Amino acid sequence: MRKPLIAGNWKMHGSLPQVDTLVQGITQGAKADPKIDILVLPTFIHLAQVHALLSHSPVMLGAQNLYLGQQGAFTGEVSGTMLKEVGCQFVLIGHSERRHLFHEDLALVAAKFKAALEAGLKPILCIGETQQEREQNQTETVIRSQLESVIQFAGISALQQAVIAYEPVWAIGTGLTATPEQAQTVHATIRGLIAQNNVDLADTIRILYGGSMKAENAASLLAMPDIDGGLIGGASLNAASFLAICSAAEASL
Ligand code: PGA
Repeated sequence: MRKPLIAGNWKMHGSLPQVDTLVQGITQGAKADPKIDILVLPTFIHLAQVHALLSHSPVMLGAQNLYLGQQGAFTGEVSGTMLKEVGCQFVLIGHSERRHLFHEDLALVAAKFKAALEAGLKPILCIGETQQEREQNQTETVIRSQLESVIQFAGISALQQAVIAYEPVWAIGTGLTATPEQAQTVHATIRGLIAQNNVDLADTIRILYGGSMKAENAASLLAMPDIDGGLIGGASLNAASFLAICSAAEASL
């Protein structure tokens, strides 16, 4: 049985007081002993503050990005070692906004995935197709290359510490959600691709869905056999809606 993971990707949102209010709302509303894993992913600048606020909470902390190595002349970048030091356990790798807006290619994403593991962080590898790729029936090809580039570079056993997030680019921040059946089909494909390398790993690895997941559609998505949680953007910025998705995940057990 895979333990569901609900992760809030705050992207470039929040001020110091807003972050305070949001974390307090989440920690006060979250169960002391949840049956699921709950994770928040604030901006770099808010990590230390959120870490302090989460000190007596089961809610975990992660970052949205990292750069390679531990230290170095890389102006504007942050390493996995630094993230670990401020309490991060997870890090997003290859989010579609990183791939498309910041031109992170397959090789860089694979290198970042490995760097996360080397720093002792659990990578959440984000993969997904654009609208155009879906219309051209390229979904499986795209998913396969995003997954295989990481497996080839880091090795299949590296996925043992990882989580996969399937995020169709056309559903991110658009209000369009993949139907539970559409998402399930791709999740099953991802699990099948991993099974070609390692059957046990395919069975245990968590595959999250992301893309306009919200309180209203979470239950039907999470009811699918291969959907093991969610990576939530917009709806994670409000404690009540984020907690409602966490409750839906608990109810799906
Ligand atoms: P969204 O974002 O929930 O706002 O669509 C999801 C994500 O980008 O991780």
